[in-house]
Amino acid sequence: MTNPGRSRLWQKLETHYLNLHSAGTTLSQLFCDDPQRFEHFSLTTDTVFLDYSKNLLTRETRDLLLELARECSLSDAIRAMYRGERLNNTENREVLHVALRTTLPEADPQYNAAVAATLQRMEGFVARVHSGEWKGYTDKPITTVINIGIGGSDLGPAMVTEALRHWHVPPLRTHFTSNVDPAHMRSTLAQADPQTTLFIIASKSFSTLETHQNAALARRWYIENGGDESKVSRHFVAVSANVPKAQAFGIDPDNIFPLWDWVGGRYSLWSAIGLPIALACGMAQFRALLEGASLMDQHFRDAPLEANMPVIMGLLAVWHTNFCGASSQAILPYSQALHLFPAFLQQLEMESLGKSVDRHGEPLRAASGPVVWGSAGTNGQHSFHQLLHQGTHLIPADFIGIVRTLYPQDEDQHAHLLANCFSQSQALMQGKSEDEALAELLARGRDETTARVLARHKRIAGNKPSNTLLLPELSARTLGSLIALYEHKVFVESVIWQLNAFDQWGVELGKQLGERLHAALRCAEPCTAFDGSTNGLITRCRNLDEHA
Ligand code: F6P
Repeated sequence: MTNPGRSRLWQKLETHYLNLHSAGTTLSQLFCDDPQRFEHFSLTTDTVFLDYSKNLLTRETRDLLLELARECSLSDAIRAMYRGERLNNTENREVLHVALRTTLPEADPQYNAAVAATLQRMEGFVARVHSGEWKGYTDKPITTVINIGIGGSDLGPAMVTEALRHWHVPPLRTHFTSNVDPAHMRSTLAQADPQTTLFIIASKSFSTLETHQNAALARRWYIENGGDESKVSRHFVAVSANVPKAQAFGIDPDNIFPLWDWVGGRYSLWSAIGLPIALACGMAQFRALLEGASLMDQHFRDAPLEANMPVIMGLLAVWHTNFCGASSQAILPYSQALHLFPAFLQQLEMESLGKSVDRHGEPLRAASGPVVWGSAGTNGQHSFHQLLHQGTHLIPADFIGIVRTLYPQDEDQHAHLLANCFSQSQALMQGKSEDEALAELLARGRDETTARVLARHKRIAGNKPSNTLLLPELSARTLGSLIALYEHKVFVESVIWQLNAFDQWGVELGKQLGERLHAALRCAEPCTAFDGSTNGLITRCRNLDEHA
């Protein structure tokens, strides 16, 4: 099909936006025009509720966007993914993270068989660690798990393990180390005892610099602190698609859990990459997470486009990015447990959609993935929400609320949390006019001249778009659905933009250059091999080192 930025339908959407804009359409007006707007612009699944009524769109907008989805053959693309077609064309790979949690009758049975066998292995391993049957080199049971990985081998499992803290199985403590800065590993090791610590080396490729360095550091620490060389296998296990490399590092083949090329790193928390989740919370919780994701998988596959939550969210993202002029997206979970969710979504969205050519290598005609950022509410309200309310950028926000708290004794405080979640999206929508601000100031006794000046500063434009997602409670099941919702939403965007959401060539150059610079930093010769700035920085580091 035509590059999306060129089609007639695309132009129709552009004109439609301009009409809405020039007519001065406001969100508040849209609610007045349609008293049932909330019902007409919300969707529900078994686990997630989506209110998308506070976005600048009408039924006509939605119809046009759905037409765009059909023009881009979205339904065919969804079916192709579930069938196991090689949608990752630049790496010639299937895209089958859905097979990690959903039985796919349409795909080759080998995928589901491999998944079932791995889950069984994980189950056995978790049981041995939890029961104390798996022992360290001094025959003590494991009390500390340290996951060593980065990107998809860290962010997903770390986020879920943190979110499900309520279900952690004592006395096990789980840590995640990712940064090549030795401070990360050292500060984690300072809390560990080599006799009772289990390291999981998580790396799909087993060739990622950070993970390699941290794993080697962990091994040195184990030996230097009395660890028995002959019993290393009791303390180091791996998850990888590259078994030979994991073995070459010294991991016992019996301790290597498999991963496959058909699972992208940022989509891998459902595989054995989720081992730290299963160890921290138990296998039943891990299976509940998969079940929640599976519910969303089935919804995505079976629901008609207009009632399909990931489809609607993906189309809204396209609407905001390509027609309303947004270049960033805020993710605001009103849940401390979900405080790592924005960081997880940054990789999922930006590594998937941060592309400027289509699947065939042709330059995109339209903007692709926005900058994704955010943090847990209510904290963000006291740092960056000012910019959302009064800044010059249009930033659509996803609010995520949890209806029932895990702390019923603190229900009233939880109501404050939800009230803030809803009041922020309400404030973004309604804003405050200069007249309203002036009236408030005068009512508080300000003199008219000061009040008129201040009112200009207190004016809040409003009309800022947001979605609100509600989970009935925070559980492994609802969390599984929420994550899968965003995975599929990203897929929808990639189909509209016709790009490959499953490769990440952009990160390679930095890695290559990093190796050469490392060699330069470690040698004493004058540094002249690079550009002026790089040579200067390296020389300065060396000089400071010499004078230390
Ligand atoms: O930074 C790029 C990347 O390849 C990510 O896509 C991936 O999740 C991460 O590095 C870690 O890769 P691996 O699991 O192979 O160590």
